[in-house]
Parts: sequence; C-alpha cells; structure tokens
Amino acid sequence: MQLLDERGTRFHASGGKVDSKQAVFYNPAMLHNRDISVLVLKALIGLKRIRTPMRISLPLEASGIRGIRLWKEFPDSITSLRMNDGSPAAADAMKKNLVLNGITDARVTVHNEEASRFLLDNPAGYVDVDPFGFPGPFLDAALRSISRDGILAVTATDTAALCGTAPGACLRKYWSVPMRNWLMHEAGLRILSRKVQLVASQHDRGAFPLYSYAERHYMRAYFSVRKGRSHADRALARHGSLFSCPKCLRFLASGEPDTRSCHGAMRRAGPMDMGPLWDRELAERVSSINGWKDLDRLVGVVAEESAVNAVGFHDLHALVKAHGLKVIPRSSAVLSALRKAGHEASQTHFTGKGIRTTAPLEEVLQALRA
Ligand SMILES: C[S@@+](CC[C@H](N)C(=O)[O-])C[C@H]1O[C@@H](n2cnc3c(N)ncnc32)[C@H](O)[C@@H]1O
Ligand SMILES: [Zn+2]
Repeated sequence: MQLLDERGTRFHASGGKVDSKQAVFYNPAMLHNRDISVLVLKALIGLKRIRTPMRISLPLEASGIRGIRLWKEFPDSITSLRMNDGSPAAADAMKKNLVLNGITDARVTVHNEEASRFLLDNPAGYVDVDPFGFPGPFLDAALRSISRDGILAVTATDTAALCGTAPGACLRKYWSVPMRNWLMHEAGLRILSRKVQLVASQHDRGAFPLYSYAERHYMRAYFSVRKGRSHADRALARHGSLFSCPKCLRFLASGEPDTRSCHGAMRRAGPMDMGPLWDRELAERVSSINGWKDLDRLVGVVAEESAVNAVGFHDLHALVKAHGLKVIPRSSAVLSALRKAGHEASQTHFTGKGIRTTAPLEEVLQALRA
C-alpha cells in the first residue's frame, strides 16, 4: 500500500502498475472521472436538480477516494454515503482512509458485499457504477435501487467493444453495431446510453443522459432516472441508427439513407440513443464551477457542444483528405463561417479537429474551401 494524494485528499491504495489485480485498486488516469463526479453533483445540487439531502451508493468503490472527495465537498447535502467493495482488502482500506481524513460521521459507512446485492439493499438518490470494463452486470440492480428522480453514473472502459475494434463484443454485450470511424466515440456513448435505457425500461423507468463524455480509454454518462412507463417509452423512442458514407463522410442521424444519392453504400451503426447527450444548463454549470485548470478544456468544450442540437460531428482532417482539399483551415475560421451563415456550430470534445453543427455537409465543405 502507498500513501497517495488526489486533489489534496490523502489516502492509501495499491500503487504501481494499474491493473485489476491490485489489492486496493487505484487508477490515477481516472482523476477527471472523479473530478467530474464532484462537479456534476455540485452542479445538480446548486440547480436543485437532485433531491437533497441525498443518499449516495458507491457499489464498486475500491480505496474510497471518490466517496471521501464527495463527502468533503458537500456533507450537508448527504443523508448517507455508503461505500462498498467486494474485496475485503478494499473495505479495510476504505475504513482506514476515512480515519486518515478525520471522517467519523455515522452517515458514512463501509460495506463488503457483492455489488448487486449491496445495491438492492441500499436504495439511493445517487448511484455510481464504476467497474473494470463492461458495466452491464451491475446495471439491473443499480437501476432498481435508484430512488425517485435519482441520478445514475456509469463508467465503461470496454472501449474496444463500444468503439468498433471488437464488434462481436459490442453485439453480445450492448446488442448494437458500433462504428469504426471518426464518430466511434460518440457512437460508443450513444450505444452505452441505449443499453442503460433498455435495462431501465425493464423496470418501467426511463434513463436520460444529462452529462456524457469520452476521455482516453473510458466513457462516462450521468443519467436522470425517472420512474413510470411513459418515461420508459420516451427513452425507447429515442433509439435509431446512424448511417455514414466511407467515401464522402456524409452521415445521417435519422431516417433511411437514400442510397442512390450517396455513393451507394452507407454503413449502418446502432441501434443507439439519438437523443441529447447533455443537459445544456448542467453542462454550463459544470464548466463554470470548475476550478481545476487541467480540466478546463474538457468541461469547457462539452459545455459549448451541449448547446448545439445535432447528432454526430464532422472531422475536418478526414474531410480534407476525403475530398482532396489542399489545406486544413483553422477550426475557428470554419466555426465562424458556419455561424455567420446562421447555423449552430461548436468544437467537440471527442476530437481536436471536429465540428458539431446543424449545417449540412455541403456547407461545411464550402466553409473548408473558402
Ligand atoms: C475500477 S475499480 C473502482 C474504482 C473506484 N470507483 C475509484 O474511483 O477509485 C472496480 C472495483 O470493483 C470491485 N468489484 C469488482 N467486481 C465486484 C463485485 N461483483 N462486487 C463488488 N465489488 C466488485 C473491485 O474489487 C474493484 O475495487
Ligand atoms: Zn457518400
């Protein structure tokens, strides 16, 4: 065990090589994952979008670092903070880490159970599913255990399945066909979202993403979970396919493509959630309350793109190549040309040279040629 520090909170966990065999798992590369959970919850509390005081269930908590950081930020908004891990070593570490941080409050408890059993025994308003790899095995219990109008956070690190390197795995685990092109990360998040919605609908609940992003080798989404058949139906009604043309890079987010007009062979991916990935007010709040410099760009760009009402984005590098254009103009020039023409347009956090816009491909190409 090593004494570590994350954003000023000290704790013990296994150091060294990060893998699932660590006695008490800790991955420093998931720093932003934990930061954003702090920010999203703070923003939801500030906007009165989550019932407070709330119960928090952390079923796969490892060292306790996430829970301790949440507690330190807004203890008055918490009625219970339950941190669980199936590993006895992790449960021991959580207890020690609470003491190390001077947390002796009876509202904070440590559990050592199988995650789904823990969830079913501990309903909560905020549930955070943060597994190794595929989150599927925990979704059923997580969705059942969410109290009225609660929030579910889900991490998926099985990006090979979601982003098209392992399409067989995507079909088996997510019941969907992934993309293997510039849109693969967004498609992956949408496939994950649909999976959560399918499991939610089994329990007459609707799950709606409020804040989603992909970073390095993981995807993460926060869902508002609403009880009732009409919410479940509304979530299912969002599902559709995303078509893309490998020649001209046109993509189509709804309806059937006119195969004659676009090089004969658009590829179909999905089904996936074609609804909004973000709640704009929340995304803007998360960005405005963030105080961590290294996180500014990610939450800033997410806030920007949350305002553009469009599924998918254009990759300027790929377009320039596919259409034999000479130079790659600056994104900012393309953005202002599109906005001047009356379209919504923003960067996207999914890639550096991407543009999310309501403009059709022809107008993006026009802006690129200008
Ligand atoms: C990716 S780690 C969690 C990291 C942690 N949330 C954080 O932010 O540092 C996954 C944890 O889930 C635990 N785990 C895996 N399967 C489990 C199960 N079925 N029940 C309970 N815990 C489980 C592992 O022991 C491991 O500590
Ligand atoms: Zn085409």
